[in-house]
Amino acid sequence: MKVIVVGTGTIGAAVRDTLAAHGHEVLSVGRTSGDRRADITDTASLRALFAGVAGAGGFDAVACAAGDVFPAPLEQTTDQQWADSVAAKGMGQINLVRAALPHIADRGSFTLVSGVLTDEFTQAATIGATVNHMVEGFVKASATELPRGVRINCVSPTVLTESVAYHPYFPGFPPVPAAEVALAYLRALANPFTGRVLKLHRTDG
Ligand SMILES: NC(=O)c1ccc[n+]([C@@H]2O[C@H](COP(=O)([O-])OP(=O)(O)OC[C@H]3O[C@@H](n4cnc5c(N)ncnc54)[C@H](OP(=O)(O)O)[C@@H]3O)[C@@H](O)[C@H]2O)c1
Repeated sequence: MKVIVVGTGTIGAAVRDTLAAHGHEVLSVGRTSGDRRADITDTASLRALFAGVAGAGGFDAVACAAGDVFPAPLEQTTDQQWADSVAAKGMGQINLVRAALPHIADRGSFTLVSGVLTDEFTQAATIGATVNHMVEGFVKASATELPRGVRINCVSPTVLTESVAYHPYFPGFPPVPAAEVALAYLRALANPFTGRVLKLHRTDG
């Protein structure tokens, strides 16, 4: 399959490597790196990206590993932090799907990213939790409406082993390696289910 992977960071790089190792053709996209440039907060750049790839042979799947949210104690959060977080991880991923949908192959798939904050509440994480719910709500609802057999799922990792700067914000949360998160993207891409949130939380114990 030809897969557009948005995000070239910790998760995006692991997704690219895992998909390539399983025989998929990967086009990586970032704001400042990757095979192509696009900004998920800029719908025009998304439309140009997908129209361009469609014109050059098309694509079967889009996997997103991008979208920032601000960590801040609720009472200190600003209007700008809320707006930027919703615009990036929330509407950014939603607009990614909307921009790609006219071009993605029949029975293609989208895989978005949320995170453990949907279910586990930590310090200063209300913006992240709220935006993750937005993403997961979109995935579950849009799965019932996508045409042409197109599927959509979401990967929800706990904090990553490699993301050591985040570890102090997740005391007592066993981290998950990026390679394992990337396998969840492969699972979502290569199997026929839709509307699922694949959780790599490790917090059931
Ligand atoms: N790391 C974790 O522990 C963890 C856990 C759960 C969920 N997540 C979620 O997973 C996603 C990726 O996390 P990560 O740790 O892999 O991040 P990362 O290492 O910081 O990499 C983020 C990537 O996304 C790109 N990006 C950011 N904003 C973008 C935008 N507006 N348009 C296009 N590309 C953009 C960045 O491009 P540039 O560098 O060019 O700006 C970079 O390639 C985030 O949504 C995060 O909330 C992460």
